[in-house]
Order: sequence, then C-alpha cells, then structure tokens
Amino acid sequence: MPLYFWPMNYQKIINGIFKEVSECKDNGIVASYIPALKKVNPNKFGVSLCTIKNDCFGVGDFEEKFSIQSISKVFTLTLALKLIGVKLWKRVDVEPSGDPFNSLVQLEFEKGIPRNPLINSGALVVCDVLISELKNPKKELLQFVQKLANNKNINYNLEVMQSETEHGFKNAAHVNLMKSFNNIENDVDEVLDLYYHMCSLEMTCSELATSFLIFSNGGKLSYTNEQIITRSASKRINATILTCGFYDESGEFAFRVGLPGKSGVGGGIVAIYPNEYAITVWSPKLNKNGNSLKGMTVLEKFTTKTASSIF
Ligand code: DON
Repeated sequence: MPLYFWPMNYQKIINGIFKEVSECKDNGIVASYIPALKKVNPNKFGVSLCTIKNDCFGVGDFEEKFSIQSISKVFTLTLALKLIGVKLWKRVDVEPSGDPFNSLVQLEFEKGIPRNPLINSGALVVCDVLISELKNPKKELLQFVQKLANNKNINYNLEVMQSETEHGFKNAAHVNLMKSFNNIENDVDEVLDLYYHMCSLEMTCSELATSFLIFSNGGKLSYTNEQIITRSASKRINATILTCGFYDESGEFAFRVGLPGKSGVGGGIVAIYPNEYAITVWSPKLNKNGNSLKGMTVLEKFTTKTASSIF
C-alpha cells in the first residue's frame, strides 16, 4: 500500500480509494425506520475533502444533497455553546454512552441528564436551549449552518421532517422523561419540532466538509478568518465527537480511523484532521450499528494512506 507524503495530492488519493471501495462488497442496509429515508438510491457514493486553505476535492456523488441526520447535532451543539457557554454542561454530560443513539436505558437512572450531546436525549436538550435563547430557532439554525458552509443554498427537507414527526414515538419518550426531571424548559412538541427540522437538513459532501472546517481551524471560518467559537469550545466539540460521535461504535471509529468524526443514518460521515482538512463520505448502506459501511472503510483507508491521524 503506498504511503503518501506532504504536500498531498488529495484528488488522486480519494480517486484511488473511491475506486477500490466501489469494488468492495457492501452488505449494509439503508435506514428504513423513517419511511422518507428509504427512498434514497442505496448505491449513491461520494467523497469530498476540503482543506483550511480552502481547496476542495471530490469524487462520485459528492455534489448531491443527502439527509445529514444526526451529523446536524454538531451544529446545534456548536450554536448552543456559542450562546450559553459552559452552562450547557450542567444539563448534558460528556461521557460516551456505549449504547445506541436512541437508547432510553441510562436516562431514567441518571435523572434526566443525558450522557452526551450527540445521543438523541442530549441533542433534544440542546434544542431546548436553542428555543430558550433564540427568537426564531429554526431560521437562525439554518442561517448558522449556511454561514459555516459559506452557502445559502442549504435547507430543511420538509418531507423527511414530516416523516420523522410521524414516527418519533421514542424521541417523544425522551423529551417527556427529561421534562419530568425538569431538564426541559419549553413545550415538548416545540422541542421535537426543532429536533426533526435539524435532522432533516440536506447538504452535499463538499458543503458538509466546508462547514466542519471550523473544527480543524481552532473555531475560525477558513474563508474569512472570523472566530465563530472559541478555540476551547472547538477543542471540546472535537473531543465530544471523537468519544461519542458514533454511539456504541465510537471506539471502533477511533480505532480504525483515528480522527474525530460524526455519522448520520442518512449514510454520511464527516471527520476532521486538526489544522489541515475536513473529509465527508456519503454511502447510504449502514452497518449493524447504523453507521455507513463504506464510509468507515473509505476513512480508514484514507487516514492509513496519508498517515493523518491525531494519534
Ligand atoms: O432521531 C432520529 O431517529 C434521527 N432523525 C437521527 C438519527 C441519526 O442520524 C442517528 N445517528 N446516526
């Protein structure tokens, strides 16, 4: 296997890995518990890498929009930290749960304080914070993501949002349980509505990679140098996605890929290498833990070939 040296020819490297992984057998299954997500073509496959010097590379379906789902929890977390800072950690912890994203088992035991902001209960508390802090949370969240991606053409997919709302019994259980422990300030339906909008965000691989560059760049936008969050907040977000971004497969992702990353049931994965790049892979077929099977393979091959792990 060739090992590459700086400066990297990223386009050539992702082309090679894309070809190699396209030829691998993929036993994954597209998420079906949200009916609208089932409509995606399971064979979609795209990779995009953007650097903090604002060079972007891509291969396959990297310019096609897909449902980013739980990856959006990183955007709401970032916005909440920007708004209320360390007060957030009184309402949500930072420990890996070792359980699936929608598990309820720890929540009652731990008196309505979610293990971390990336499991569903944690993301729901973060949505509650945004509702308390913002006049128009859905609009302001969208504007925030558009700013990070340097692209106004990013939107919620209302069909996916509606489909999630109709099948969201477990998420409703999470919010109600937390409300009973006084860890939800707002109306339960309002919190769920913001959460489902957040999950329905659609982006391309290159938009997603661009929007995650602030976490490679100490909290600064790479294209204007504007400091969006503090360097310390950026460090904490990276630590949280490294330890909790893949739920009960977070250890496996760190072990195989060696970078902070976040997955979504739409088949997207985004990972960041500090001071250099953010990389997104989209392939909708998921492994048994609900993470993109090809996505994990591409990123494992990429960080191995380029020797770009944080470890
Ligand atoms: O709450 C849900 O079921 C989803 N909309 C979010 C799922 C998701 O992406 C979980 N992680 N990979």
